[in-house]
Amino acid sequence: MKIIKLDAIDSTNSFLKNLSVNSTVQDFTIVMAKEQTSGKGQMNAKWVVDGGKNLTFSVFSCFDDLEISNQKYLSFGVSLAVFETLNELKLPKLAIKWPNDILSVNKKLAGILIENNLKGNKITSSVIGIGINVNQEIFSKDLPNATSIKKIVNKEFDLDILLNEILIRLKSKLELLHKKDYAFLEKQYLSVLYKKNVPSMFKNNQNILFMGKIIGVSENGKLQIELENETIKEFGLKEVSF
Ligand code: BTN
Repeated sequence: MKIIKLDAIDSTNSFLKNLSVNSTVQDFTIVMAKEQTSGKGQMNAKWVVDGGKNLTFSVFSCFDDLEISNQKYLSFGVSLAVFETLNELKLPKLAIKWPNDILSVNKKLAGILIENNLKGNKITSSVIGIGINVNQEIFSKDLPNATSIKKIVNKEFDLDILLNEILIRLKSKLELLHKKDYAFLEKQYLSVLYKKNVPSMFKNNQNILFMGKIIGVSENGKLQIELENETIKEFGLKEVSF
């Protein structure tokens, strides 16, 4: 395992992606940065870090035989690795919010951005970007839903120790993925999925509110919500908020 530690970079994901295009990158190479000037979040959002207080890193992972249609299991494995590590810290009401946000007491603690290199219908390698709010105490008013481990448990955590714990778990989840133990990853993921089986309010992409309950994730990675009339609808990332 090779860890590259940087003081500042545009984005650890972009750095690793460029590295993999221009040279051979070993499986499980990690890039960690104290600052990101153009941190990338899901759906083209920005990921802003509070210099040196949070964990900001990307992991390069190679695959021999991972079909694009099975990419949701990679997302399950990565979010479970982060979830299980944070769960050791006894954070209250910890859950994975579909697809792969980590929440504690309904606020976002960590985000994941996975960028894949494809060949035909296979994922040959992925850059797995993980941002965890660890010791940050002040958040911008634009991020009312963000929190940190320190804000919740009132204690500082050593970033290197936390990183190491996550990497150990990530390795074992990736092994499950290599062994195609998809059913086990799905079972673990669904057991900690935020609002699963809880009647809740959702908003669709036309800003229409509706009631339903999350019952699972479809074959193609969409969120399955059972509506009040018991029909099941599937939603992609930009199609629903809750
Ligand atoms: C999200 O929007 O929830 C995903 C956030 C992912 C942020 C991490 S920080 C390390 C890596 N580098 C990036 O530019 N983004 C990811």
